[in-house]
Amino acid sequence: MLKLKDITVCYGKIPAVRNVSLEVGEGELVTLIGANGAGKTTTLRAISGLLPLAAGEITFRHKPIGNTPARDVLALGLAHCPEGRRVFPQLSVRENLEMGAYLRHDREGIARDMERIFDRFPRLQERLHQAAGTLSGGEQQMLAIARALMSRPKMVLLDEPSLGLAPNLVERTFEIISDIRKEGTTVLMVEQNALAALEMCDRSYLLETGQVVERGTGREMLGNPHIQKAYLGG
Ligand SMILES: Nc1ncnc2c1ncn2[C@@H]1O[C@H](COP(=O)(O)OP(=O)(O)O)[C@@H](O)[C@H]1O
Ligand SMILES: [Mg+2]
Repeated sequence: MLKLKDITVCYGKIPAVRNVSLEVGEGELVTLIGANGAGKTTTLRAISGLLPLAAGEITFRHKPIGNTPARDVLALGLAHCPEGRRVFPQLSVRENLEMGAYLRHDREGIARDMERIFDRFPRLQERLHQAAGTLSGGEQQMLAIARALMSRPKMVLLDEPSLGLAPNLVERTFEIISDIRKEGTTVLMVEQNALAALEMCDRSYLLETGQVVERGTGREMLGNPHIQKAYLGG
């Protein structure tokens, strides 16, 4: 479904991501793990058209999307839930969800999807008319995920969905992400919590200083001595 071939992404002249290749198959949940500063966010931003490629190629459903405007990438069915749950703080919960559907015109479909979102996230329905900025961190994260789903994407990019959440909410967030995948949405998720990321994924890639240094199934990665030593506490 998604294929990155030798992509390099720079800030100014400095490459933050070098020769990264990875693939995500339809229906897979793939994770991208690595320490702070490894290039995970940069990779996702390049995929969704927020950063230009210095080299390499990205294809989504066999269409080249490298250097494609973010809006066009979204229109192809690839939604991005950014790091730090960037909801629109002044807008209500409902308005934030509507923003997620801004490229759609099927009013009935949008209304139906909103109902499904409320089934999954009852807290959002309770707070529908509240400004998003007044929600708790966990609620804002749910809203950010729900907003991405409102575009009815074929695939979602999730950047550190568990960052800064209380432990019980971390678990809930991962459950929701597993559910999203079970319903047929392909997921590429960035996560610093390597253990959780490897336990829930089909396959994973480890980034170190902008390069892929390990790849494999979740189970293979959990058994990899380098990963155990550096990312799983021995
Ligand atoms: N806007 C930016 N301008 C310059 N350098 C940046 C910018 N954003 C990130 N970087 C650098 O790019 C590298 C990768 O960052 P990032 O992709 O955010 O890593 P991660 O998401 O894995 O923590 C880091 O060295 C970081 O300092
Ligand atoms: Mg990041």
